[in-house]
Amino acid sequence: MTKHTSPVAIGIDIGGTGIKGATVDLEKGVFLSDRIKIATPAGGLPDDIVAVVADIVSQLPSSDDESIALGVAFPAIVKHGRTLSAANVSDEWIGLKAEKKFEKAIGRDITFVNDADAAGFAEARFGAAKDVEGVTLVTTLGTGIGTALLFDGVLVPNAELGHLEIDGRDIETVASYGAKERDDLGWEEWAALLTTFYRRLERLIAPDLFIVGGGVSKHHEQFLPLIDIDTPIIAATHRNKAGILGAAAMADRGHAAVPERSTTGA
Ligand code: BGC
Repeated sequence: MTKHTSPVAIGIDIGGTGIKGATVDLEKGVFLSDRIKIATPAGGLPDDIVAVVADIVSQLPSSDDESIALGVAFPAIVKHGRTLSAANVSDEWIGLKAEKKFEKAIGRDITFVNDADAAGFAEARFGAAKDVEGVTLVTTLGTGIGTALLFDGVLVPNAELGHLEIDGRDIETVASYGAKERDDLGWEEWAALLTTFYRRLERLIAPDLFIVGGGVSKHHEQFLPLIDIDTPIIAATHRNKAGILGAAAMADRGHAAVPERSTTGA
């Protein structure tokens, strides 16, 4: 594996609607470049998405410098470099050796992770979950619903709690921000659906804190106070920047928030 020596990394966040990338300062958790955003190709096919990612990477400064880590976040279960699900992208992703496919197209090593995990990692390292003890669930409300489960700031990957079945329906299909837009829901109607979702989560994982991210969290004052639950619920610090920040931070090993595991067994 390439040793990354720079306090800078590149983050790419692939979403159901847009694919975004930037160069990140890993000490401060801020963008060092402009954010590049390209619409997710219709159909979400692997070749099309990979081509857009390669294009974005090539436009970012120093992207061919392999001392700079490159992280790519994707909206599916990511296990050992494979995508194991596909909710808002083509089914062709299911079972695909996606990490290898991106590496071949970009021409360098990447770190490949789930998008909500990247957002949760960013909040733990640079944002609302920094130094927070206990069980925190970061939820991203976008085209789908992503979840990142943290315990004392350590991420348990691939939580996928946005696919809980409630009243016979996959909750993401009725309560995501995408569903709010599609169904033209007002804040109160949407908050009632979100109350159902967060109440179920309270029963299942008894969190100490919910953090709500995704672009819509910039309007948190409109809907967070309407969510009627017992657990504290706050807006994410980095909103829709968190995926990029977290992808970059998770790719970086020299500057990781969580120390690398000892290989000596000591
Ligand atoms: C996917 C998750 C993803 C979330 C947010 C869901 O449909 O299953 O993996 O984190 O959308 O993009």
